[in-house]
Amino acid sequence: MNLVIAVDGPAASGKGTIAARLAQTYGLPHLDTGLLYRAVGLKVVRDGHALDDEAAAAAAARSLVPAGLAEDERLTTGEAGEAASRVAGHPAVRSALLELQQAFAAQPGGAVLDGRDIGTVIAPEATAKLFVTAAPEVRAERRWKQLNARGIEIAFEDMLADIRRRDERDAGRGAAPMIQAEDAVLLDTTDMGIEAAFDAARRIVETARARHGL
Ligand code: DC
Repeated sequence: MNLVIAVDGPAASGKGTIAARLAQTYGLPHLDTGLLYRAVGLKVVRDGHALDDEAAAAAAARSLVPAGLAEDERLTTGEAGEAASRVAGHPAVRSALLELQQAFAAQPGGAVLDGRDIGTVIAPEATAKLFVTAAPEVRAERRWKQLNARGIEIAFEDMLADIRRRDERDAGRGAAPMIQAEDAVLLDTTDMGIEAAFDAARRIVETARARHGL
């Protein structure tokens, strides 16, 4: 049996950092599935289609080349995140990206994936499932500081409104909504720094490994 770690949660919860560090700790490949939706959203915009054009978005998803996405700076913008959240609501987009993600999760030796529906849809049999969250104000503040450090100016209130809108859309959609899997462990990082959050995440994984005899 492989060690498969599913890390889900809302925008700016710290799930990406936690997933990347878990992957490093256990020597596993890591897939940030948000990048797939971000790449699809940006392609739709660049090709001049509307984000609610499901057929155009599904075609973009089918033609997606996943290599190199992690190095693409354009995918880190707020515009890409917003476009991602919009195209992610289309069932045809989700099904076009399903196989790729499931194959990543099933590779020999195991894997770490982070996103919104990893523990529920992509890898329901994952060894360890974490649902990482934090209060919206705290997530907005973290994201705001990150952007500020990169010289990008945005009003905190706008950042918070953006986070709340994303949460609502991601959790409220019909297709694979963001939801904590029944057997996922909730990790609320509101009052934690990244070190404490990572330690807590590792303990959750260790408990799951012991339970699975891995
Ligand atoms: O994790 P992120 O902020 O990069 O994700 C961007 C958007 O992509 C998010 O608002 C919803 C969508 N997404 C999704 O629907 N399912 C996933 N597994 C990952 C991301």
